[in-house]
Amino acid sequence: MFTSHLTPEQVFTPRLAEVNKEMYVSRPHLEKALKTALRGHLHLIIHGESGTGKSWLYKQTFQNSGVSFMVANLANASRLGSISAELKNLVDREEGTEKTAYTEAKSAGVSAGIAKADLVHTGQYQIGKMEPFEGCLKHLHELSKGHPSILVFDNLEAAFTEPLLKELADLLILCDDERYSKYKVKILIVGVPSGVKEYFYKTPHHATVANRLVELPEITRLEKSECDALVNRGFSDKLKYAIDDLPALLKHVGWITDRAPQVVHEYCLELAFLCEDSQRITITDISQADDDWLKKSQYYAYSVVESHMNERDTKAGRRNQTIYALSLCEGEQFKATEVEELVRQEFPESTVGTILNLPQMLSQLSKGERPLVRRSPKGDAFAFMDPRYRMVLRAMLKKNEERVEKRPISR
Ligand SMILES: Nc1ncnc2c1ncn2[C@@H]1O[C@H](COP(=O)(O)OP(=O)(O)OP(=O)(O)O)[C@@H](O)[C@H]1O
Ligand SMILES: [Mg+2]
Repeated sequence: MFTSHLTPEQVFTPRLAEVNKEMYVSRPHLEKALKTALRGHLHLIIHGESGTGKSWLYKQTFQNSGVSFMVANLANASRLGSISAELKNLVDREEGTEKTAYTEAKSAGVSAGIAKADLVHTGQYQIGKMEPFEGCLKHLHELSKGHPSILVFDNLEAAFTEPLLKELADLLILCDDERYSKYKVKILIVGVPSGVKEYFYKTPHHATVANRLVELPEITRLEKSECDALVNRGFSDKLKYAIDDLPALLKHVGWITDRAPQVVHEYCLELAFLCEDSQRITITDISQADDDWLKKSQYYAYSVVESHMNERDTKAGRRNQTIYALSLCEGEQFKATEVEELVRQEFPESTVGTILNLPQMLSQLSKGERPLVRRSPKGDAFAFMDPRYRMVLRAMLKKNEERVEKRPISR
C-alpha cells in the first residue's frame, strides 16, 4: 500500500502560529471583506472567538496579496510593560536579521560592498535609533516599497490595562500626523469579541478612536463546505488514509467541533493518531476518537458539564434532558421557548401533558461556581459560558429513548 510521508502532526496543527499553506482552507467571504477594507482609509479591527482563525486569516490574506505586515503581540506588550517595548523588539529583530545577512554576505565574500550599500540605502541600521513606533512604520514602508502596509496588534484582550489602552489609542491617533502618515501604514487590531467590546468601552478618547476604525464582520465557525474541505484534504489528500464512510465522517466532525477551525484540527489530530497504523478510518475509530479527544483536550469542559448533570437518574432526568437539548441548539443564543420545544421533540413520552419550567431550569444552569450557560445582556436568552461546552455536550451525551446517558471517560 502506498503510504504518505506526512505525519498526523504535520497535517493537523491546532495551535500553529504560522499558516500551513497546504492546509489553509480559503474563506472567500472574509478574505474579500479584509481585502476591501484595506483599500479604505480607516484602520481595521477584526474580532472572533479564540481559535476561529483570525490570525491565519490575516496572515494568509496579506501574504497572498503581497501586503507587507508586521505583528506586534499585545500579550508581550503587557508582559514588557508597554507597546513601545514590544515594537522595539520587532525593530531589533528585523535589524538583527539584516545584520546577519550582511555579515554572512561579507564573510562569504559575496558582493559585500553592494550588500552594505543596500543596507545604508534602505536605512536598516537607522530604524533602531528611531523611536520604536516610527521605526516599525519606516521599516514597513521600506519593505513594501511605498505600497500600503500593515502593522498588526494581535491579542487585544491581553492589553486591558489603562496605560496600554491609552498607548494604543495614542498610536492610532498619531497615524494621522504627517510625520507618521507618510509611511502609509495601516493598523489592524485583532481580538476576541468580548475584548473588542470592552476595548471600545474602556479606551480613552473612545469616540476619536472608533472614528478611525472599521470593524470587519465577526470571524466565526467555518462554512460547512470549508470544514469538509479541511477534513477531506487532511485525511485523503495529505495522509492518504482510506475512509470507510466519508459522508459520515464529515458530518460527525462538523457536528462535534461546531466547525471551529482550531477544534477541527484538534479532533482530527486525535483521529489521525488513532488510525496511523491501519491508515484507515472506520466507524469504530470515530467513536474512539471522541473518547480520546474528550479525555485529552476537553477534560475541564467535561467536568463542568458533569457537575451540572443529575446525580442520580431521576424519573425523566429533566435536567439532563435540558442539557441534551442545549447540545442541539445551533445559534449562539437560545431562548427558553426554543429549548423547551427541543426537549418536547426529543423526549415526547416523558414530557407529554407536563409543565416544563425551562426558564427556571436554564437559570439554574447559569448559577454555581462553574456555570454552563449565561444570560444574554438583554436577559431574554442564554448562551454557553464557553463555546467549547456545546462541542463537549455533543461528544459526551447520548440519548437512550427518554433518558440521557453520558459517555464515561477514564481518568
Ligand atoms: N482557514 C483555515 N484553514 C485551516 N485551518 C485553519 C484556518 N484558520 C485557522 N485554522 C486552524 O485553527 C488554528 C487556530 O487559528 P488562529 O490561530 O488563526 O485562531 P485565532 O482566532 O487567532 O485564535 P486566538 O484568538 O486564540 O489567537 C490554527 O492553528 C489552524 O490549525
Ligand atoms: Mg490569534
